[in-house]
Amino acid sequence: VFSHVVRAPEDPILGVTVAYNKDPSPVKLNLGVGAYRTEEGKPFVLNVVRKAEQMLLNDKSRVKEYLPIVGIAEFNKLSAQLIFGADSPAIRENRVTTVQCLSGTGSLRVGAEFLARHYHQKTIYIPQPTWGNHPKVFTLAGLSVKTYRYYDPTTRGLNFQGLLEDLGSAPSGSIVLLHACAHNPTGVDPTLQQWEQIRQLMRSKALLPFFDSAYQGFASGNLDEDAQSIRMFVTDGGECFVAQSYAKNMGLYGERVGALSVVCTAADVASKVESQLKLVIRPMFSNPPIHGASIVATILKDSNMFNEWTIELKAMADRIISMRKQLFDALRARGTPGDWSHIIKQIGMFTFTGLNSKQVEFMTREYHIYMTSDGRISMAGLSSKTVPHLADAIHAAVTR
Ligand code: LMR
Repeated sequence: VFSHVVRAPEDPILGVTVAYNKDPSPVKLNLGVGAYRTEEGKPFVLNVVRKAEQMLLNDKSRVKEYLPIVGIAEFNKLSAQLIFGADSPAIRENRVTTVQCLSGTGSLRVGAEFLARHYHQKTIYIPQPTWGNHPKVFTLAGLSVKTYRYYDPTTRGLNFQGLLEDLGSAPSGSIVLLHACAHNPTGVDPTLQQWEQIRQLMRSKALLPFFDSAYQGFASGNLDEDAQSIRMFVTDGGECFVAQSYAKNMGLYGERVGALSVVCTAADVASKVESQLKLVIRPMFSNPPIHGASIVATILKDSNMFNEWTIELKAMADRIISMRKQLFDALRARGTPGDWSHIIKQIGMFTFTGLNSKQVEFMTREYHIYMTSDGRISMAGLSSKTVPHLADAIHAAVTR
């Protein structure tokens, strides 16, 4: 009865890893998925995470009962404080509801399903380009997806004018997806002044901000700095949705730890919203898993462990920044045609190289370098040892 089923294509990002795994070449390099690797090219479990896991293991009072539908209360509270700031008036006034979800994707999906059911506008504007999963998550949740201009390929920077025009002509009340920092895939963020202009425009048109925060601490190495865009929107007292992920900043990729926060204008609204979020979550995954969120709560609530975390986080961010410099220098040393300064200007995990799909295909075929076909490379997958190989491949791709 299923013989009619058509084979689906691999996921544009996770499928890159599938292809990489099949390649027997010893020089192969996976710069597709945004996952941090050490200088040795190995996955990295933070020491502070190992320590937290050991503490959890030693605590014999811990049980495996179901969590409440909204997850671990302490995790939710600490997550809200991390993203909004411990002194946030919205938290103080109980205007925020935070629910534990399955990493960033699950948080986006729960937020989107809630909006599709309870918000008067069903259109969400997403940046062009954006993370490949965004349009799918929102469409399947029942929202209709439109794009706003974001990236300018000629400057390899922000198309700020286009962004203002498109949001300026969006119908009042529309939802707008914003990347809190380290925009994926472009690595291009608005400046703080530009954020302020975006905020003013959005509030004047009652556009509803939905932030995707997948890289807090990963862009600048500083947790507060990377949350500034969100905090600007929360400080003005208006509504705001935030999907938070601990995949990158705590290296908890496979643990699927995240949270959805909805900032409301009054405490009783927030509590009613939470009651409806439970109705979204219960039939979707019933209640979230314990382990990853317990790790996060253990680290966030202990000031020593929190400090240890920030040091490890900064080290990851710094290694990525150093990879940018090394790749830029390597291309310059080879005299590779083109202006590659965007490699050091863009921030976060990815560089949007400007390489086209043919050049990417060539690099994969001839150099066994795996990346998404839009020319995005994960800088976190690179090391001092592999920079020359990548630079050779880029040089060959643009000069052939
Ligand atoms: C990425 O963009 O590579 C990451 O966010 C991983 C993913 O799930 O796509």
